[in-house]
Amino acid sequence: MDLQEVFAARYSVRKFAGKAVEPEKVQSILEAGRIAPTAKNIQPQKILVVQQPEGLQALGKTARLYNAPLALVVCADTEQSWKRPFDGMDSGQIDASIVTTYMMLEATRLGLGSVWICYFDPAVVKREFNLPDHIVPVNILALGYKADGAEPSPLHFSRKPLSETVAYEKHNW
Ligand SMILES: Cc1cc2nc3c(=O)[nH]c(=O)nc-3n(C[C@H](O)[C@H](O)[C@H](O)COP(=O)(O)O)c2cc1C
Repeated sequence: MDLQEVFAARYSVRKFAGKAVEPEKVQSILEAGRIAPTAKNIQPQKILVVQQPEGLQALGKTARLYNAPLALVVCADTEQSWKRPFDGMDSGQIDASIVTTYMMLEATRLGLGSVWICYFDPAVVKREFNLPDHIVPVNILALGYKADGAEPSPLHFSRKPLSETVAYEKHNW
């Protein structure tokens, strides 16, 4: 699959088959995240791989995982992440999200489905997984094989035209 094909194949999967993801595929997904760009190349991501029933159940207390057999909790280490000197902007969440994007696209290339999840209470994730204060859970990437009947939601087919989101040189926002 070339990149355009990966883009075209990806959609948020919310119906997973129970089948486990092979360890080589998990490794390949993690490797894609490893080579993602991050601010100042600090690589402040910390990724918790959750595939045991206890862990999935713990995550399920705060996040809907759609029966996914694998969840990657992508965190930012705020003790390491780059802070922009002008305004203190912490790049940790951006970095974690680029890593998540790379992993999501690699999962698609490997024939897996995924859904990116931010609707969770970080305090619950921190508590359940005993994360120290400086490790902030940013995204959960739920992964697995698509179940029969999985299909894109209507939102997948709704994207704004570029004319609404892009301006050349001058804008009227
Ligand atoms: C930052 C971010 C947060 C998201 N959070 C959730 C979520 O908590 N639960 C969920 O089911 N989908 C979540 N999604 C998936 C979006 O709803 C989805 O990408 C969007 O509706 C477009 O649909 P598509 O991914 O099928 O193209 C999230 C996506 C992003 C990028």
